[in-house]
Amino acid sequence: MPNTLEESVPKKMLISANALRVLEKRYLRRNRASEIIETPEDMFHRVAKAVASAEFKYDPDADVAMVEKNFYQLMINLEFLPNSPTLLNAGTEDGQLSSCFVLPVHDSIEETFDAVKYTALIHKSGGGIGYDFSQVRAKGSSVGDHPNAAGGPVALIDVFARAADYIKQGGVRRGCNSVVLSVDHPDILDFIKAKNDPLALTNFHNSVSVTDDFMSRVRSGENYPIIDPRNGKATLWLRARDVFNLIVDQAWRTGDPGFVFIDRVNRDNPTPLLGRMKTITGCGEQALLPYESCNLGSINLAMMLKNQPEGLEIDFEKLSRIVPLAVRFLDNVIDINRLPFLEVEQATKRTRKIGLGVMGFADMLIRLGIPYNSTKAITVAEEVMEFITDLAHKASQQLAIERGVFPAWSGSVYEAEGMPMRNACCTTIAPTGTLSIIAGVSSGIEPIFAAVFVRNILEGENLLEINPYFEEAARERGFFTRELFEQLVTSNHLHLRKEIPEDIRKIFVTAHRVSPDWHVRVQAAFQRQTDNAVSKTVNFPKSATRADIAKVFMMAYEQGLKGITVYRDKSRDLQPLCTSETG
Ligand code: CDP
Repeated sequence: MPNTLEESVPKKMLISANALRVLEKRYLRRNRASEIIETPEDMFHRVAKAVASAEFKYDPDADVAMVEKNFYQLMINLEFLPNSPTLLNAGTEDGQLSSCFVLPVHDSIEETFDAVKYTALIHKSGGGIGYDFSQVRAKGSSVGDHPNAAGGPVALIDVFARAADYIKQGGVRRGCNSVVLSVDHPDILDFIKAKNDPLALTNFHNSVSVTDDFMSRVRSGENYPIIDPRNGKATLWLRARDVFNLIVDQAWRTGDPGFVFIDRVNRDNPTPLLGRMKTITGCGEQALLPYESCNLGSINLAMMLKNQPEGLEIDFEKLSRIVPLAVRFLDNVIDINRLPFLEVEQATKRTRKIGLGVMGFADMLIRLGIPYNSTKAITVAEEVMEFITDLAHKASQQLAIERGVFPAWSGSVYEAEGMPMRNACCTTIAPTGTLSIIAGVSSGIEPIFAAVFVRNILEGENLLEINPYFEEAARERGFFTRELFEQLVTSNHLHLRKEIPEDIRKIFVTAHRVSPDWHVRVQAAFQRQTDNAVSKTVNFPKSATRADIAKVFMMAYEQGLKGITVYRDKSRDLQPLCTSETG
C-alpha cells in the first residue's frame, strides 16, 4: 500500500496536490474507522461503473464495459466532471446523485413541515434547494379563528434555515439554499431587510422575484399592488422605484437580496402545461418546477484547446466527442439516482432535466491570450456555448430515438417543434465551486480570483494556489522571481507590477479588476446560449455606490439574465477566497 495519497496517484494523472487534499478530505470513501479506502482513480472507476450500468435498462446486450471506459476517461482526464453528489454517492448505498432541487412551500402547517422534513432529506444527501415562499400568508394574518396569529414567510424561512443548519450535507458541507419571495407579497419589505442581522439565514440566499410589469413600473415611476396571497386581492400600493431602491440598498450593504426575473425564466419553460416555474435553485443556475431535481456536470474548457501552427485554438472536434458522452452520462444518472422521496422521483423522471455546463472558461481565455473583459471574450463565450448547447440537444434527440422522449414531452415546446427530446433541458452553468478545484481550473465562467492566492476553503486549512498558466508565462517571459510570487500572495496587485509585461497583466485580469458591466455581459452571453440559468457573481469594489449597483441590476434585466447576485467587496464577513487586498 502507498504511504500517502500522493504516492498512490500515478504520475500521469493530472490531479494537483490541492485537488488531492480536497478529494481526501471530502470525497474519497472511508471505512468505519474513518480511513480512506479508495484512490482518486478508484473513485472515478466507482462512478463510471455505476453510471454505465444504466445502459442495461435499455439494452441487455449493451457494451457496458466500453461505456464505462469512456466515462472513466472523461473524468480521469479532467475533461468532464459530474456534480459533487454523483462523485460522492454513485455506486454507494446512499446513491443520491443530484445537486439541485426545488421544493414548494404551501400555506398549511402539514405541508410546511413536510417541506422541512424534505429539506433535511435533501441536505443529508448533498443537494441544494430553491424555494418560493410567496404562497405563505402574511405576518399577522389570521389562522383559523385566531386573528393576528400568522408568523409570515420571514419567520418561516428561519425555521427552514435552522433545520438546514442542523444537517450537514452527507457530512461533507452545508447546503446552499435560495429563497424567492414575490415583490407583491405583503411581507416583501421585511424580506428585503432580512439579512440585516449578519447571523440570520446563513446558507440562504434571498432573491426578490419580479415581473416585467414591475420592472416597467420602476422605470416609469408608477405604483404597483401588494397582493394578499390568500385571496389575490390588492391590499396596498407601493412605489415600484422605492422598493427597487430598497433592494439596491440592501444588496449594497450585504449582497442580499438578488433578483429573479421570473417572466424571463418562464419564457424558457419547456413544459408550460406542467405549470410556471417560481424559483431558481441553490446557487442560481437551475430554474425548476416544484419537486424537480437536476443533476449537473461540467466540461473543462481549459482542456478544449488544440495546438495549431498559428497558436492555440478551440478544439471543436474534441468538444464534438465529449458533449454527447457527457449528455449520455447525465441521462444515465437519472436512471440510477436514488432520489430521497417519491414526489421528487416522479417530478424528476417526468422531464428528465440535465444540466451540462462548463468550467475553466477564464483559464481557456488566458490560454488563448484573450482578456476576460473584452468583446473577443464575449464572442468566444457565445461561440463555445452555442456549440455545446446545440450538440447537447442533438445528443438528447439521439437518446430520445434510442430510449424514448421524456414522459412529459407531449405538450412541451419540443412537441410543437416536432423534435424528439430525451431531456426537457440540457444545459446549465453551475458555479463548480468544488469541481473546479478538483479539475484545477477557474470556476464556472468566473474570471480568475487571483494569479497567486491562498484558498481557505477547507475548515482550518489554507491551500496556496498558483495559476499554472501564470507561472508558465512568468518563466517563459523572464519575470519569474520568488519575491514577486510571495508578494502577490499578500497583495493582489498584479495590475500594478511594472515588471510584468502589460499584455500579461491584461490577460490575467482578476475578478475584482473586471468591471461589473463586463461581468454582466459575460453572464448574458452564456445565458443567450444556455437552456436553463447561469450561476455568476458580479463583483463590485468596496467603493462602489448604490447607483452603481442599481445600474447593473437594470442592465442585468435588459440583457435578459434570469437572475442576478452582486457582491461588494468586504460587505460580508466571510470570503471564501482571500488575498490581503482585493479592492
Ligand atoms: O462543484 P460542485 O459540484 O460541488 O457544486 P457547485 O457547482 O458549486 O454547486 C452546484 C449546486 O450544488 C448548487 O447550486 C447547490 O444547489 C448545490 N450546492 C450545495 O447545496 N451546497 C454547497 N455547499 C455547494 C453546492
